[in-house]
Amino acid sequence: MNMRGLIRYRLLQSQFTKLQLDSIWLWLLPFICFLLFLLLILVQAKGRNDSTRPKSFSCGNFTDLRFPYSTPTQPDCGIMPMSGCDAKPFPRIQLVPGGEWYYALEMHNSSVWIGDTKLQTTLRQHKCQAFNKNFSLPNSPFMSFHMININNFFKCISSSNNTRNITQKKSDHFAGYNMYNGCEGFSIYYKLSEDVDEYIGADNLPTNCSLIRLPIHSSHGDLFNWLGPEILVEWKLTDECNECHYGGGQCQTDKTNKFSCHKDAKTPTSSTDQRKETTGRNMVGQILGTGSKICLIAAMYSYYRIFMHII
Ligand SMILES: *[C@@H]1O[C@H](CO)[C@@H](O)[C@H](O)[C@H]1NC(C)=O
Ligand SMILES: *[C@@H]1O[C@H](CO)[C@@H](O)[C@H](O)[C@H]1NC(C)=O
Ligand SMILES: *[C@@H]1O[C@H](CO)[C@@H](O)[C@H](O)[C@H]1NC(C)=O
Ligand SMILES: *[C@@H]1O[C@H](CO)[C@@H](O)[C@H](O)[C@H]1NC(C)=O
Ligand SMILES: *[C@@H]1O[C@H](CO)[C@@H](O)[C@H](O)[C@H]1NC(C)=O
Ligand SMILES: *[C@@H]1O[C@H](CO)[C@@H](O)[C@H](O)[C@H]1NC(C)=O
Repeated sequence: MNMRGLIRYRLLQSQFTKLQLDSIWLWLLPFICFLLFLLLILVQAKGRNDSTRPKSFSCGNFTDLRFPYSTPTQPDCGIMPMSGCDAKPFPRIQLVPGGEWYYALEMHNSSVWIGDTKLQTTLRQHKCQAFNKNFSLPNSPFMSFHMININNFFKCISSSNNTRNITQKKSDHFAGYNMYNGCEGFSIYYKLSEDVDEYIGADNLPTNCSLIRLPIHSSHGDLFNWLGPEILVEWKLTDECNECHYGGGQCQTDKTNKFSCHKDAKTPTSSTDQRKETTGRNMVGQILGTGSKICLIAAMYSYYRIFMHII
């Protein structure tokens, strides 16, 4: 093969690969376009489904959960957010805004069993440290709480200077109580309280005695057998939050942490955040729409080029 022949051969070869490339595009482009359109349709369909507040949702193996519980994806739809719905063995729940997260062990319409892992470990290992804890759930601006299986314990610091007076006062105040002396530095006075007056015995405490409230799961055995890491919490929405929510609003707080009912003037059934989400989705739709238009133009251009090439 001479030089000219070689050059012509190379030229032909390059034109062939070019044609081949073009024909790959010929097949690939419509496919890409098709995919884009499919995505566009999917996004728009999703937008229509989600435009209302979810009536109920599932988290872990809890089904049919409703307001005031809320999903991890739409925490603003409720007051008590949940997280880790796929986590084993239990998802978590936050009862008070900004408060601690507990395991959600059982969930009911107006109560929830929560589990405290820290207390569980403490009870298992350094038992006396359990009395460093004190369970209290402050009422939030939206709801009030009532812990069912909680018991009053009185922790009295023992000092070398416990005068006879103080000792006398203690035994007067805690008449009829059990005393536990097995922890270093303090003694515990306790008895099973009958839930009538939550803070019975909590007034006018002897010097260096304080009230602590801990969950119990049994009243048999020794003191540590009484204690357990699980608490049944009853909750009740405040009237104003109840009215707000079922009137289509959203229970919120203002800067001073006072209750405020957020109502959207334009669309009373949809919250601000959902509108944000919808606009977000519209944007995705627009981008996809533009993408498919560009795609179409590119395809047409490519067909045009191939057409010219063949001629
Ligand atoms: C959910 O799962 C936990 C542990 O996996 C189990 O103990 C509990 O009974 C389950 N609850 C329901 C309602 O199935
Ligand atoms: C909990 O609420 C749902 C929906 O409002 C209702 O169908 C169900 O009967 C309630 N369960 C109890 C135990 O009140
Ligand atoms: C424990 O909490 C209760 C309220 O639930 C409170 O009255 C008490 O003073 C607290 N005790 C300590 C030691 O902080
Ligand atoms: C009470 O506690 C305080 C500090 O917590 C301590 O200074 C004081 O000596 C204690 N008094 C008695 C009588 O134990
Ligand atoms: C013991 O208490 C008395 C009065 O309550 C006080 O005068 C004395 O200093 C205290 N002693 C010690 C070692 O704290
Ligand atoms: C002991 O108690 C009596 C009254 O019960 C009181 O008058 C006295 O001041 C107390 N003494 C001390 C050291 O607290």
